[in-house]
Amino acid sequence: MDIKQRISELRVQALDELTAADETSGLEPWRVRWLGKKSRLTEILRGLASLPIEERKEAGAVSNELKLELEAALKAREDILRDCEIASSAVRDAIDISMPGRPFPRGRLHPVSQAMNEIAAIFSGMGFQVLEGPAVEWDYYNFDMLNMPKEHPARAATDTFWLDAPPNEKGWQMLLRTHTSPMQIRAMEKTQPPIRLVVPGIVHRYEATDATHLSMFHQLEGLAVDEGIGLADLKGTLTEFARRFFGPDRRVRFRCDFFPYVEPGAEMAVECAVCRGEGCRLCGGSGWIEVLGSGMVHPSVLEGVGIDPKKYSGFAFGMGIERIPLLKYGVEDIRLFYSSDLRFLRQF
Ligand code: DAH
Repeated sequence: MDIKQRISELRVQALDELTAADETSGLEPWRVRWLGKKSRLTEILRGLASLPIEERKEAGAVSNELKLELEAALKAREDILRDCEIASSAVRDAIDISMPGRPFPRGRLHPVSQAMNEIAAIFSGMGFQVLEGPAVEWDYYNFDMLNMPKEHPARAATDTFWLDAPPNEKGWQMLLRTHTSPMQIRAMEKTQPPIRLVVPGIVHRYEATDATHLSMFHQLEGLAVDEGIGLADLKGTLTEFARRFFGPDRRVRFRCDFFPYVEPGAEMAVECAVCRGEGCRLCGGSGWIEVLGSGMVHPSVLEGVGIDPKKYSGFAFGMGIERIPLLKYGVEDIRLFYSSDLRFLRQF
């Protein structure tokens, strides 16, 4: 048999055996058998010397080629088997490294938080500082300093959750704040004008819950005190807020209202999004939706905190937050916001 033919037979056999090796541990015996010192290929290479020069050249080239091919095939087989062994040990450990990753459940902000952040950001853009205050308050801040001394009828207008705790040494009683307005007093006690701040936060009222009322909800309070602040500043600021929040094409309306801590007091309403002033179910037929209460800070409130009302004046406002996504998205029951029903919440 001529050498070339022997080599090609060796090649087929060697490669067959290599593919049959299905563990890396089987590769070393294969190497010894096919590429080792005593392998048939080595024997052939050694025997070349005895061949006539012409034959030797060709046979030498072919056998060297086979040697290189077998070495490369060994390396390739080793790589494949090693990968398989890593993968199968992962399977043993119950990890499928080929499995696509699981998506993380993505959380999002509650629609009320979204509205609160958006409103606070608008005022922040107009130079108002964003502050928070305590939800458990003294009646002193929640009522007295806002022109509602004990026995004042306005105290009874908002039913209050009083805390079952003894009064402090000054006779102050603890309660759950019924509005964010007490932060006006806390801020003015600490800072002299100019003051511009908004206070988002939770409030409580001792009320029965229904489709439009909750005993817990959120408000955003605003206060601006400086020299020469007038009603035009109040109207201008709040109109600009409405323009940015509800869109430039929604009209706003101011009407007189009464709050003990402002004089004059006003409510602001925006044109109903659904009927544009025609009157519909959402706006109760009036064409307008009340958004906030406001007014010029009462001189006796300023005096109470040691700010001279002859020198300074200011405006204040307060709005309910839950109403806003309620109106914006036409949610028919305010209780849905706190039902923790993800099917509802995921829509926002
Ligand atoms: N505190 C009022 C409420 O809870 C809202 C309000 C009205 C706040 C007039 C103000 C204001 O600052 O000036 O309904």
